[in-house]
Amino acid sequence: MSPLTASATANSNIAFIKYWGNCEPKARIPANGSISMNLGGLETRTTVTFDAFLDSDDLILNSQPVGGAALGRVSEFLNRVRRLAAINHFARVESENNFPMGAGIASSASAFAALALAASTAAGLELDEFALSQLARTGSGSACRSIPSGFVEWQADGCNPDSGAVSIAPPEHWDLRDCVAIISREHKPTGSTEGHALAYTSPLQESRVAGAPTRLAQCREAILARDFATFAEITELDSNLMHAVMMTSSPRLIYWQPTTLTVMQAVQNWRQEGISVCYTIDAGPNVHVICLTSDVELVAARLRQIAGVQDVLIAYPGGPARLVLEHG
Ligand code: PMV
Repeated sequence: MSPLTASATANSNIAFIKYWGNCEPKARIPANGSISMNLGGLETRTTVTFDAFLDSDDLILNSQPVGGAALGRVSEFLNRVRRLAAINHFARVESENNFPMGAGIASSASAFAALALAASTAAGLELDEFALSQLARTGSGSACRSIPSGFVEWQADGCNPDSGAVSIAPPEHWDLRDCVAIISREHKPTGSTEGHALAYTSPLQESRVAGAPTRLAQCREAILARDFATFAEITELDSNLMHAVMMTSSPRLIYWQPTTLTVMQAVQNWRQEGISVCYTIDAGPNVHVICLTSDVELVAARLRQIAGVQDVLIAYPGGPARLVLEHG
């Protein structure tokens, strides 16, 4: 019997219209749709081997064995794959991020996308892109957007239980860059799984969700038309709306640090100067500064001059999750 093993890579992604809050938390069915860009250059590579001789699942992350909650979450995900494939072997999962650990870049999206592709292939399942996206979603919601290529929309359609993501434009459609201003490398105190559960404690969440279809349409159209001015306005508005919900949840979640606001203000000023640039922020203090390739050196250099910005990582529109054919 050939070994039940496969390797896959997937990019991280940055959402322009954010996912925050679930209709159904266990299956990670989102309260609203979202739109993102895969982050080429920031990726996870994962090898999964189902092995009849293992007596538990093993997780090795950046060459270090990992147990506890992280292993529990991976095992739960593997259980879903085992059920679908009708196999019962435990698995060894070896995973590496090519971006620095603790750089404050969300790794769960690339991690669960790479895991979904590697584990389902190793288990002998042949899932199409949408089914793979649905599987990745059950590990980490945003991971479903790291399966298709380029610019991606995760459709929610009124709490549809079959929710998954599709590509709306290939990476070469629009030459954007994401300059990630690293403001803190600390682990965030409240992870996104707990954060999603608090979303509806905010009096603002219902109205954020109600307006999401309009913002999704505006953002999708702006991307398709490469209309940076509209894209910038909607992306910043949507990020601010999500953080308004976070800040007004109970307990409140404030992810920003003083430098986060300094960067937000600087980006506004640069846009007023005529540079095509805007910001968006996830569940952490780091700021994703989106610009055109023609301005990337200027924007990155200006970001590096801001006191409190520790580093700037630059990502480009990335491709889909893919298998690494190293086993013949
Ligand atoms: O996939 P999760 O559960 O880590 O949620 C991601 C949430 C945000 O990054 C804040 C927004 C998004 O849409 O990616």
